Amino acid sequence: MSGNRIYLFDTTLRDGEQSPGVSLNVEEKLEIAHQLARLGVDVIEAGFPIASPGDFAAVEAIARQVRGPIIAGLCRATRQDIDRTWEAIREAESPRIHTFLATSDIHLQYKLQKSREEVLSQAVEAVKYAKKYCSDVEFSAEDASRSDVDFLAQVIEKVIDAGATVVNLPDTVGYAVPEEFGRFIRTMYEKVPNIDKAILSVHCHDDLGMAVANSLAGIINGARQVECAVNGIGERAGNAALEEIIMALYTRRAFYEKEININYGELFRTSRLVSSLTGMRVQPNKAIVGKNAFAHESGIHQDGVLKERSTYEIMSPELIGLSRGSLVLGKHSGRHAFKEHMIELGYQLNEDELDLAFRAFKEIADKKKEVTNDDLVALVMDKVWSIPERFKLTYLHVSSGTNIVPTATVKLAIDDMTFEAAATGDGPVDAACRAVDKITDIYGRMLDYKLNAVSSGKDALGEVVSHIEINGKLYGGRGLSTDIIEASVKSYINAINKFYYEKQQHAGPA
Ligand code: KIV
Ligand code: ZN
Repeated sequence: MSGNRIYLFDTTLRDGEQSPGVSLNVEEKLEIAHQLARLGVDVIEAGFPIASPGDFAAVEAIARQVRGPIIAGLCRATRQDIDRTWEAIREAESPRIHTFLATSDIHLQYKLQKSREEVLSQAVEAVKYAKKYCSDVEFSAEDASRSDVDFLAQVIEKVIDAGATVVNLPDTVGYAVPEEFGRFIRTMYEKVPNIDKAILSVHCHDDLGMAVANSLAGIINGARQVECAVNGIGERAGNAALEEIIMALYTRRAFYEKEININYGELFRTSRLVSSLTGMRVQPNKAIVGKNAFAHESGIHQDGVLKERSTYEIMSPELIGLSRGSLVLGKHSGRHAFKEHMIELGYQLNEDELDLAFRAFKEIADKKKEVTNDDLVALVMDKVWSIPERFKLTYLHVSSGTNIVPTATVKLAIDDMTFEAAATGDGPVDAACRAVDKITDIYGRMLDYKLNAVSSGKDALGEVVSHIEINGKLYGGRGLSTDIIEASVKSYINAINKFYYEKQQHAGPA
């Protein structure tokens, strides 16, 4: 492997899942992990197994089922954490234990209440202990960028001696600036005599909006692994955005002279999947994957692009899997054309998935004259990449307006039976959700609600992403329809289905 190779370590499922309001179930995490494998990242950090039974189950499932990338599990530098992580990742094709301990004086004094000597020996002990299980051990010096460089250099040297194969230097609080962070990485090369025995990694947070710039400065100065998350999600302001790092290294390859091994055509799909399953929308002006990233609004720009794309475009949308055409299929399109089109969009659906998607497409095509690529992508998220529907909406009637009490009648299919209920509420969506509660006997509270038009026009598909609290836990819900009230109720029912599904899984076989 060339010395210029940069390893992409994706932490969407661990640091990314620490984003406020994000809570993914095992199936959703698996779906994202499979997509990350298709994208071709080198490492998937699947979670923090000791954090909760759900985290453990997801890491274990990913380790068992996802092939290709290294599967890493995070743990603090204690035997109990390391044991639990190993238990979760042991069946991975290529497992990695990722253990971390803070090295900055601020963390030592206030959080750990430990001396430098104690931290040094704990770090070494943890790596040695992890090494008994796994040949691939990553050590992260939490808050590295605010640590005393001589102490940090000492810790790095000793953990490498103890067997760490990767040493990660996070800018945990997003405090660094690029020139300084680049210098910091270079200094570590100068101060740590055995640094060439491990891969040096960077992990930058975006509190000052510089996570990607800092990561790239780290790469220029010798880092060979970069940790990042899809759409830049993560703790607080998030992590360095994976798609931005990838496209910077690709588009400016003559400058960086680094190699990555990625299926670029999967980038947009990966972003869409993560945004859809986490409920964290991508801002329209977001680099690479935002809705406007390739849109030219000004007349002068449009004219230039029509004459020669390179006048105003530095990357091609097709490279990241975004198709330029929007009009695609209509209600007369057959299953074969649909299947071919889905393949062109990059979705290799099996026969069952194709059935589900085609049926949903026909329903939408009946209501909408033109079904766009964006509609089709949303439809796959909604119908194919979702958990089984215990409760299925078959009928919705709402009545609301000025000076009338909003009322709703709802019918839900459960197995082969249909159940009906009516309720009033603060608004038509609230009334419909209350009617759903009466049928399911599951009572949710909608905490957060976002409506997004998937395509343009009066008949655009509306996608509602909501967060519903049920029994004190948050569930993300998605719903898709040309009718926004229906989309909202579907998103509520989707969250109820997730709750039900999770309960069934914990209950085990009847
Ligand atoms: O930001 C950080 O320091 C981390 C470590 C656990 C790697 O996420
Ligand atoms: Zn982090």
